[in-house]
Amino acid sequence: MAKMWAGRTAGNTDQIADDFNSSIHFDSRLYREDITGSMAHASMLKKQNIIPAAAADHIIAGLSEILADLESGELEIDETCEDIHMFVEQVLTERIGEEGKMLHTARSRNDQVALDMRMYMRKKVNEIITLVRGLTEVLADSAEKYKDVILPGYTHLQRAQPVYFGHHLLAYAMMLIRDTSRLQDALKRMDESPIGACALAGTTYDTDRVYEAELLGFSGVCANSLDAVSDRDFCLETLSALSILMMHLSRFSEEIILWSSWEFRFVELSDAYTTGSSIMPQKKNSDMAELVRGKTGRVYGDLMGLLTVMKGIPLAYNKDMQEDKEPVFDAIDTVIMCLKVFTPMIATMNVHPENMMKAAQGGFINATDLADYMVTKGLPFRSAYKISGQIVAECIKTGQVLETLPLETYKKYWDQFEEDLYEAIDLKNAADRRNSLGGTSRESIAKQIELIREKLK
Ligand code: ARG
Repeated sequence: MAKMWAGRTAGNTDQIADDFNSSIHFDSRLYREDITGSMAHASMLKKQNIIPAAAADHIIAGLSEILADLESGELEIDETCEDIHMFVEQVLTERIGEEGKMLHTARSRNDQVALDMRMYMRKKVNEIITLVRGLTEVLADSAEKYKDVILPGYTHLQRAQPVYFGHHLLAYAMMLIRDTSRLQDALKRMDESPIGACALAGTTYDTDRVYEAELLGFSGVCANSLDAVSDRDFCLETLSALSILMMHLSRFSEEIILWSSWEFRFVELSDAYTTGSSIMPQKKNSDMAELVRGKTGRVYGDLMGLLTVMKGIPLAYNKDMQEDKEPVFDAIDTVIMCLKVFTPMIATMNVHPENMMKAAQGGFINATDLADYMVTKGLPFRSAYKISGQIVAECIKTGQVLETLPLETYKKYWDQFEEDLYEAIDLKNAADRRNSLGGTSRESIAKQIELIREKLK
């Protein structure tokens, strides 16, 4: 088929060059944005008397039919077209004739594609924010539900101090709140319209960029035409925010995988979010969590890929920039898919408080509290620390735990131990005493939940 841009050359590109150059097999998903953008463009051309009003009306009616036919499946994307922009314009001209050829007045595919991408990403980033909010809500609800469940908090993956499970879940909720704010921040800078920058330098026509931007729901316009067509910061910022979000989901996944193992048995995922093994009948694998962890690599790759594409491009538009689409689409699709499976996986997960408690009791994570008890009775901390250590050593040797070690045994190490020591080393008491701002106490958890619900409003 003859190229729409045939002019200086006859447009007889080799088939292999055509295939290499064309982007329609991945940018066809921009058809809605492309058509909506073109309708706004035609309205602006009409208002400014750049094209006849009747022609503009025919263009707008034609475009809206094309959109309806694409949505209904009546019209199929022609993959032999170079890109979605060429396809829409070609179908329009086939349908309404010569007037269709007026649409591309005072614009270029360079500002057109930049506009389409901003509109598409704006929609998708909002969709992601909604999904992240859904997960954050699940975490806040679960934190409330499991606010009395103690598990060992870890450092170096060694049992360290008792924490409430709710506190642990809320740590992830805080990360998600930051993810949301990063995405909202990216939306702010995405909210400038590039259309009207034309190929690179603006135009001689008396256009109204602000009007066109308003029609398309942008708060402002890109102030420099060269920047407008060559900026892909909004893609990179989004990819970067998505990479950090995936890093959070990946860390969480790693914990879910660990907790689901027989060694931990802190949680059991619902059958709906696990798989079996084709050979080992006893298996229940956390494939969804593993895939989320694995797909994090793809999203990082998308970010690194596009950063690398952009690093050597002189102003303004260069065809390299067509390479923005696949990584952006891949990252967006991946994150949406991950969130859609991750959220219900967490919401339906079975928690085993008894196993968490057992692990909390087995690790002497209240040894610090035992030492603190002696300090409150007048012993210097270093001496108390030493006695507490000796008692732990005896427990390890005899297979006992601090909570049930008889008082006589305690007294062997320090004669001032009393009955009240058991209250001091009770795991829940120990956790509730960590009532500093942001600490693990139930009072602090309630405040954190309130904070998160406030932010979710
Ligand atoms: N398919 C192209 C892209 O995605 C559209 C812009 C083409 N512009 C041009 N001057 N060749 O970047």
